[in-house]
This record gives sequence, C-alpha cells and structure tokens, in this order.
Amino acid sequence: MNTELCKKKILVTCALPYANGSIHIGHLLEHIQADIWVRYHKMRNRKVFFICADDTHGTPIMLKAKEMNIFPRVLIKNVLKEHILDFSYFNISHDYYGHTNSKDNFNFSNKIFLNLKKKKYIVKKKIFQLYDSKKKIFLPDRLVKGSCPKCKKKNQYGDHCESCGCVYSASDLLFPKSELSHSIPVLKESTHIFYNLPIFKNQLKDWICSGVLQKTVENKIKEWFLKGLKKWDISRDSPYFGFKIPGYKNKYFYVWWDASICYISTFKSFLKNKKNISFDEFWKNDSSTDLYHFIGKDIIYFHSLFWPAILLGMNFRLPTKIFVHGYVTFKKKKMSKSKNKLISARTWLKHFDSDSLRYYYASQLSSSIKDIEFNTQEFINRINSNIVNKIVNLASRCSSFLNINFNGILSEFLLKKDLYDLFLKKTKKVLHLFQKQEFSSIIRIITKYSDIANHYINKKVPWKLSKINKNDIKIQLICTMGINLFRFLVTWLKPIMPNLSNRVESFLRCTLSFHDLKNPLLKHKISIFFHLYKRISNSLINVF
Ligand code: 2FM
Ligand code: ZN
Repeated sequence: MNTELCKKKILVTCALPYANGSIHIGHLLEHIQADIWVRYHKMRNRKVFFICADDTHGTPIMLKAKEMNIFPRVLIKNVLKEHILDFSYFNISHDYYGHTNSKDNFNFSNKIFLNLKKKKYIVKKKIFQLYDSKKKIFLPDRLVKGSCPKCKKKNQYGDHCESCGCVYSASDLLFPKSELSHSIPVLKESTHIFYNLPIFKNQLKDWICSGVLQKTVENKIKEWFLKGLKKWDISRDSPYFGFKIPGYKNKYFYVWWDASICYISTFKSFLKNKKNISFDEFWKNDSSTDLYHFIGKDIIYFHSLFWPAILLGMNFRLPTKIFVHGYVTFKKKKMSKSKNKLISARTWLKHFDSDSLRYYYASQLSSSIKDIEFNTQEFINRINSNIVNKIVNLASRCSSFLNINFNGILSEFLLKKDLYDLFLKKTKKVLHLFQKQEFSSIIRIITKYSDIANHYINKKVPWKLSKINKNDIKIQLICTMGINLFRFLVTWLKPIMPNLSNRVESFLRCTLSFHDLKNPLLKHKISIFFHLYKRISNSLINVF
C-alpha cells in the first residue's frame, strides 16, 4: 500500500463551539467526522494538524454568566475545561484547543481590523437595530424571534429562516418579540462599523465556483449572490462581552469577527514552542498547504462569504475545501440547545462508550449534507450485530483454538491466499472512501467483509476438526486465516473506533496499519483473548 501518496501538509478545523453550554452529540457529529478523517491521514503518514477553540464572546455568554452570577471570564474558563475533557473522552484528537478570548486572538482581531481599515475596507454607517427597552440591550439575532419575511413561517430567529433558508436582518422579521423580556422590541439608532464585503464579490464568486464546496452548497450560495452581497456589520454596542474595537468608544467586535479570526490565532498559539512548522506556510497567499473546515449547514454563510472575505482582504490564502454536514435529528427534530432535548456528551457516556457513537455516525456519514437521525434501536442493533456478533466474535472463536491448542501461535503460511488478497484489494477502495469521506460506504464494506470472513470459518468448522484431533494443523491454518481477516476489518475501523483498535492491537500484539496489511500475520504469537467489546443491552432502548 502506498502510504506516501501526498506530502502536502494539512490544517483541519471544526466550527468553534459556544462557551455557554455543554458539548452534545450534535457537536460530536462534526468533531467525529473530522477526527476520522484526521486519523485516516495520520495513518497514511501525512502531516496533519487539527485545531479548534471555544467561541467565548457575545451576548448569550454575557447573559448566561449574569444568570449564574459569575463573571463571563469565569464562565468561559470553566466551560473550556469541560469541553476539552468531553472531546478527549470521545478521542477527538485536536492538536490544540484554544479559545477566542486569548491574547493571540485579541492581537490578530485588532491587527487584521487595523490592516483592513488602512486599506479602506472598513466603513461606518448609522443603522436602526432592535432594542429591548425593558432589558436595555440591543438584541442579537438569536434573541429575537418572529415570522420569516419571505415564507411567513412563525418562530424564526433574527438571522435566517430554518424553513425556507432565507437570510435577512432581524429588523426585517415580522412581529418580532424579544426572547429576553418577551416585549416587543423597538428600533433604535446606532453607528455601526462594516466590512465592505461587496468589493470582493468577483473573487468570492470565482472561489466558490472552483469546487471548494459540495455542489448543493455551491448552488445555495449562488442564490445569495443573485440577491447581492451586503456590507457586513462587524460591531456591537455595549453591553457586550468581547474585544473592544480599537479607535472607537464602546464598540465591540461582533462575535463572528474574532471567532473566524480564531482559526488563525489558534494555529499561532499551537505553534508556540514548535520550531519546525511555519505560520506563513499555512496562511500566506501562495501557501503550499491545505486548509479544510468542517462545518454544519447553518453556518455556510459565515464560512463561504465573511471568512474568505477577511482572508482576501488580508491577502491570505483561501480554504482548500469546506465540508458541510447536516444536522443531527432525534425523533425527527433538530437537536439544538434551544429546541430539543439535548443528549450531552456526559449523558451519552453514562450509558454507552464513545466508540459506539463514532461507529454509528460513521455508518451514516457521507459527503452529502442530509440530516442524520439518531435512532436508539437502530444504534443498538448495529453495534450488537456488526461489531459484537460479526467482528469481535470472529476473533473470539478463532483465538480460542489457537490459544488452547497452539500456544497462541499463528500458522507459517496462509491456507487461502486468494481470500487474503481479496481483502487486500478491498483495502485500496477503503482508503479511497476515507479520502472522500464516504464513511457509510466503508461501514457497508466492513459489514459485508465480516460476513465473508465468518462464512469462511463456518464452512471450515474448526470446532468439528477439534473434536477429532485438537492438534490438527488444519485448525491452526483456518484460525490463522480468521485472525488475519479480523485484522483487516479492525485496521479499516481504526480511524473510526480508536478504543477498540487499541485493544485489538494489544490482543494481536501488533500495530494496525494500512501499510502493513500487505504482509499477513504469520508465525506470530497473539495474546489470550480478552474482552474486546461489550454487547449493548436492549433494555437501554428508551434511555434518552
Ligand atoms: O455556530 C457556532 O456554533 C459558532 N460558534 C461557530 C463559529 S465557527 C468560526 F468560524 F468562528
Ligand atoms: Zn422562511
């Protein structure tokens, strides 16, 4: 297997989770998708860096801290610790996890702003905004609800309609109501600072049409272009938790300004004490490295227009690709903080292990942006049938004969080389599918090939041979085939189920790598079989 295919260095990011709530299985979809991809690249010896950070600014975080009677800084510090731990429980292999309130991010947010201002890309304008006179605060888009100005759907947030996808300003909402005081907001005048997005229209269009997004996403963005681009309001009035805009009194950077820039600053923070990676190599215009963002479909606008416009203004490189995924739905409803019962990472781990969620998501993930329904019954069935009954059981059956009668030693040659070669050939396809993020197709292959492996063992009936002569060399040969096929299956699963593959590495007493699959495990001593994966009890069906 050629593991040196591409020498390009890669930077991978996930969207920054807000620091006002726990990590839930909706967040985990994206981090697991990115992590599987990162692990795949690492297994192929590519230089890949995976970074993320907490999104710590904005009105909701300020209000949450107020509600808890603590300073926002205390809140974001506590949440950061919790988020880092939760991601580690799910084996999300971030190389660095920062936060938007960091010194590096403060410096970059200011520096970039001043640079763009000097280039005259920043303009001032008086605007009217929804204001909650009861709470004495300008209302952010998420804290005002009303009917969509286009399709008239009720209960929509102030930035976009979840029903028809239309993007608008909060002041366009019909029948707006403050989520804070439930009063009807008034329009109040304030001077705001804007980034002159429309001047980048042609460059943005060229970039969007260059295959950096899935086709469905590209088409959606083209619709936005038809409507025309507007200048981007990057300031917010006091009270606000965030960075003050240099040179203006009581104006703060809008949370999305410093959140986007945090992709850059987090990388900078990561580089501290790392001498052999250069910042410029990743961010300068003629960069020879790749930059990939994983995001949900609700934040396409920010990543396909605002973020690249900042990069264009700075004459920095543009993202290589933006991978958009759908929502996680539970009982057919979008799982989100405000709308539906959330399954937090911690709640999940009270009942199930992390690999099982990784496997379940992989079995549904592809490069499409369709939503992924979490169905507990289907989840339990898939784990028990595919992982426990088909894969773990294969190892358990074969290793018991090898351990008892052959001192755990595998045979000297392969009994059925053509079967081994069939799996080896399929490995190429599996690698290709990893590259394309077609994880559900990989899971289908793994299921099909575990059936092939089990079928082989069932046909060869080593248990029958053992009754006649437990030291029959044929038993060793059959079970060696079984263990080698098992090795293929778990190597293919390695980026998806890191805990299981770790245990299997101890059991097989070897590192699982795509590259090594070209050589079968022969004349090799394996460990005594130990518990590799626990069956999930059907009684957990209504656990959420
Ligand atoms: O939508 C969100 O959850 C944002 N916190 C994502 C920010 S991603 C980055 F661009 F800032
Ligand atoms: Zn609508």
